[in-house]
Amino acid sequence: MQRDPDSQVMAKAYARWAPVYDALCGPVFLNGRRAAAGAARAVGGRILEIGVGTGLSFDDYGPHDAITGIDVSEPMIARARARLATGRYPQVKQLAVMDAQDLRFADASFDCVVGQFVITLVEDPERVLSECARVTRPGRQIILVNHLYSERGLAAAVERLLARKAHAVGLRPEFPFSRLAAWADGHGGAELIERRKVKPFGVYTLVRFRRA
Ligand SMILES: C[S@@+](CC[C@H](N)C(=O)[O-])C[C@H]1O[C@@H](n2cnc3c(N)ncnc32)[C@H](O)[C@@H]1O
Repeated sequence: MQRDPDSQVMAKAYARWAPVYDALCGPVFLNGRRAAAGAARAVGGRILEIGVGTGLSFDDYGPHDAITGIDVSEPMIARARARLATGRYPQVKQLAVMDAQDLRFADASFDCVVGQFVITLVEDPERVLSECARVTRPGRQIILVNHLYSERGLAAAVERLLARKAHAVGLRPEFPFSRLAAWADGHGGAELIERRKVKPFGVYTLVRFRRA
């Protein structure tokens, strides 16, 4: 098993990514973002997006949603704030620099917590998942979308090989689904309710948990 990423390395990497993120990553993550936001809209209500980045997902929510976005990277949130300042996103209620490992929200504050392409990048993914569960209301959902590690075969070998260099630039190709499932089993307050490949290419996996 590879090491989890270092928070400071990630912070530096995303300070570098911020100016070019939308142009380079916007189209690449589009299907995943839309799938996760669509699943969150089906839950509705107060939605927390962890690792909201530059706010590319704002377009994927509707006028009746109430979005709070947090990100550990000041330069990424600055871009999200600039996007919000256009006045086109009344559904976005709050943006804050915050570590998903230590959410500064009361228990059961949200109907849905969404993490798009972030859970694999944090230093302690299980702690982030437990924080997400803590702030989610009973019966409501945590929704993640990510590329997850292939676990077997040639793709897995390549992903392992790329891992070390990938961390330094803020990416992580080798994070297995089994780790998310194991967290839910161990936590006791969250049930895995969906795992599906995102169409059309199936590169990303959408995972949903329901808070007990
Ligand atoms: C690949 S980007 C995804 C951004 C956005 N969700 C999207 O899909 O475009 C990962 C984001 O997670 C943020 N991030 C990494 N570690 C974090 C943490 N511990 N807490 C909050 N955000 C974090 C990074 O700063 C970065 O903005």
